[in-house]
Amino acid sequence: MVKENFFYSRLLDAPLALTFYDLILQPGYTEVEPREVSLRTKVTINFEINLPFVSSPMDTVTGADMAIALARLGGVGILHRNCSLEEQVAMARRVKRAESFIIRDVVTISPDMKVADAIEIMSEHDIHGLPVVDSANYLLGIVTWRDVRYSDPDNLVRDVMTGKDKLIYSDESITLEEAKRLMNKYRIEKLPIVDKEGKLLGLITFKDLELRGKFPNASRDPDGRLLVGAAVSPYDLNRAVALDRYVDILVVDVAHFHNKNVLNATRKLVRSVSADVVVGNVGTKEAVFDAINIVEEVAGFRVGIGSGSICKTGVVTRVAAPTLFAVANVADALIELGEHGNIPIIADGGIKNSGDIALALAAGASAVMMGNLFAGTRESPGRLMALEGKYYKEYYGMGSNKARMRRMSLDRYSIPSKDVEEGVEGWVPYRGTVKDVVSELKAGLEAAMGYVGAASIKDLWSKAKFARVSPAGMGEIKPHNIFMIKG
Ligand code: XMP
Repeated sequence: MVKENFFYSRLLDAPLALTFYDLILQPGYTEVEPREVSLRTKVTINFEINLPFVSSPMDTVTGADMAIALARLGGVGILHRNCSLEEQVAMARRVKRAESFIIRDVVTISPDMKVADAIEIMSEHDIHGLPVVDSANYLLGIVTWRDVRYSDPDNLVRDVMTGKDKLIYSDESITLEEAKRLMNKYRIEKLPIVDKEGKLLGLITFKDLELRGKFPNASRDPDGRLLVGAAVSPYDLNRAVALDRYVDILVVDVAHFHNKNVLNATRKLVRSVSADVVVGNVGTKEAVFDAINIVEEVAGFRVGIGSGSICKTGVVTRVAAPTLFAVANVADALIELGEHGNIPIIADGGIKNSGDIALALAAGASAVMMGNLFAGTRESPGRLMALEGKYYKEYYGMGSNKARMRRMSLDRYSIPSKDVEEGVEGWVPYRGTVKDVVSELKAGLEAAMGYVGAASIKDLWSKAKFARVSPAGMGEIKPHNIFMIKG
């Protein structure tokens, strides 16, 4: 029998999809000063970071520079995939080589190559020294910029290198302090690491040792290298496997993860890689249940559909799961499964300021993903433009025609059957460095947690009390009745 008012009751029973524009956090009794707040959080099942900020995998947001800058500050960048496999791998390698205790992925040279080759390799990789190894990877010496700079380009590397007899090297058991002492004592910039037989295992550089002390909050892998993630298509196993050698996190990057083909392809992908695999985007409880059932090993959920500042999905389809609404639903699904706090939620899309970050975390997220706010920084790959005395950086959606022209990430929005633009193109104000933006967002978030009385993100989940504000009321809780010169 057909239910009476079947369609009309569906309208009346519709849930309220609350957004960042609808809610505020209520002040609570507090014993927490903002500077005492800990923002340490899980970004995936296996990785904890000191700052709950993740940058979006978009080609106007996250390249190697962004990923390096953000990881140094305690967050993590997800490298975009709107490029060839080789380009994406090169970005990942750059992040991993940016600083580490022992570089594992060492660029080497053979003794029979020429000085000209050494110069070319050094310039290509922006490095100033190359361990010299034979075809079985035995360390024979080291050649540095100083050795090649004024040498005849036709000389052989073996003739200009410092040979093993004069070389300072070490084994893997060396500690950071010992390495510093040794390098200071012998005034060397590079310390090769070898195994018992004398085969090259890695390289320690003085620059890395210095940098390490400079960024105490940095997100690092177990080898001390900066943490990094990369976006992949669920259908591009080849790319996922290639990136898996270099990245810690793979983000299955589709606009709607709750799709049979995507779920099945991701299940296969997860079994072929060792990185933590974050899946998304999702916006409902059912998507979480199906993802966990089918994919089995989900290392995190990227949550929110249609809230992104460059998003047109909600307009062209009227389908959306606004980030805050989606996060709360996904968090409830994870509570039902006993996994909330274990499998992290990354709230993605629509974050305009630190207040939105506080709301997203309070609604159950462990971290937030931001495109717009990071697109405006010096480290984003987008173009910089001056307009009437102000600076702007280019920012466009990955479903916009501009991004789709490169066609590399076309399947984020469809298997190329869907031919509709789901993103817009534009410019965002230039905001300075990632460090400037992060400092401001972090201070605002810590202040919010201080007001609520939450010393940690976990504490925020239990202590936060929301209140709904009328659309008109929102006008009162921001600056008003003043002619603002700045801000
Ligand atoms: P914000 O608000 O930080 O959001 O700019 C960034 C997030 O938006 C998503 N994204 C898109 N969504 N069409 C969409 O519907 C698009 O073209 C598009 N490009 C990016 C993505 O989740 C990103 O992290």
